[in-house]
Amino acid sequence: MRLAQCHNHHDFRTLAKQRLPGPIFNYIDGGADDEKTMRRNTAAFDACDLVPNVLRGVGNVDLSTTVLGQKLDLPFYCSPTALQRLFHHRGERAVGAAAEKYGTMFGVSSLGTVSLEEMREKHKNPQVYQFYFHKDRGLNTAMMERAKEAGVEVMMLTVDSITGGNRERDLRTGFSIPFRLTLGGMMQFAMKPVWGLNYVRHERFSLPQLESHVDMGSGAMSIGRYFTDMLDPSMNWDDVEKMVREWGGQFCLKGIMSVEDARKAVDIGCSGIILSNHGGRQLDGSRSAFDQLAEIVDAVGDQIDVIMDGGVQRGTHVLKALAVGAKAVGLGRYYLYPLAAAGQAGVERALGLMRTEIERDMRLMGCSSISELNRDHLKFR
Ligand code: LAC
Repeated sequence: MRLAQCHNHHDFRTLAKQRLPGPIFNYIDGGADDEKTMRRNTAAFDACDLVPNVLRGVGNVDLSTTVLGQKLDLPFYCSPTALQRLFHHRGERAVGAAAEKYGTMFGVSSLGTVSLEEMREKHKNPQVYQFYFHKDRGLNTAMMERAKEAGVEVMMLTVDSITGGNRERDLRTGFSIPFRLTLGGMMQFAMKPVWGLNYVRHERFSLPQLESHVDMGSGAMSIGRYFTDMLDPSMNWDDVEKMVREWGGQFCLKGIMSVEDARKAVDIGCSGIILSNHGGRQLDGSRSAFDQLAEIVDAVGDQIDVIMDGGVQRGTHVLKALAVGAKAVGLGRYYLYPLAAAGQAGVERALGLMRTEIERDMRLMGCSSISELNRDHLKFR
């Protein structure tokens, strides 16, 4: 399979699987425990059907939206994800450039593989900085200061990863950062020589957001150990309220699922919440963000930007989320498979396909702008 033959999420996934060493593909592809939440995330969109209107004059379709104070040309963005240069040697550089081309926001993770400063200097589109709450409070302050100095527009604190999820695929393959190259692992890498050559020929793997603070490189700091050893499970609403004040700008929480927590996010002065179960990678059995969306929009949608992610693979998924009341929708695996498959060209193709799908679907729905989408366009079964 080649990039030109990729027409949807499933095709990109197939191509990524062909190109990536098994442990890396499974790290992206997998979820927690029995992966029920991961599957439900996409299936949840089938709980309702679209009800189109016709004869509305849809010659021009405007997909732009404003979320977290940022004007985006599209109602979806590339969520921050970890370790991108492991998937393709250009990693965040490819994703940031593709997102800029499409006029949308992208994220750089604390576990990102290109520095947030480099990304902020290179691109003009809004940038999110995803971070975790560390035991070391000085580290939290230092990371926020760095982001502020770099000119990052939006802080996004992940709150659903207070401890690592149970990723059994990773346990089985032995996936860890840095790699422990077991014999089985070596075989896997030898079987994907193009990936292997690119990996060894390019800049050494690193985690520039953390490296000056944490010894990730030489030791065997796995993602799981990072969560359990470095992050603070005692983090609470008071801690986060202080951070929101310290930042003094757009601040959102990623991983809110209950109405009660959504209200608290409003109370502590957040500008947005992302309904998310971390792509089904943390608490298996957790509800899907789409299933929970209406309730939360009804409770706080007039006070805070409600965003969702998880399982989004189609333009119609985005339309359904927007019709319920989400301000924007985050994509994760949707752009990671194309990144792995073909770098920037892959991500551009995937974002372009999503834009085309949404444009077409909006016309078929009789809508010419995002603000026209509402719950009258949906019927729950
Ligand atoms: C993951 C974390 C690192 O889902 O975001 O693997």
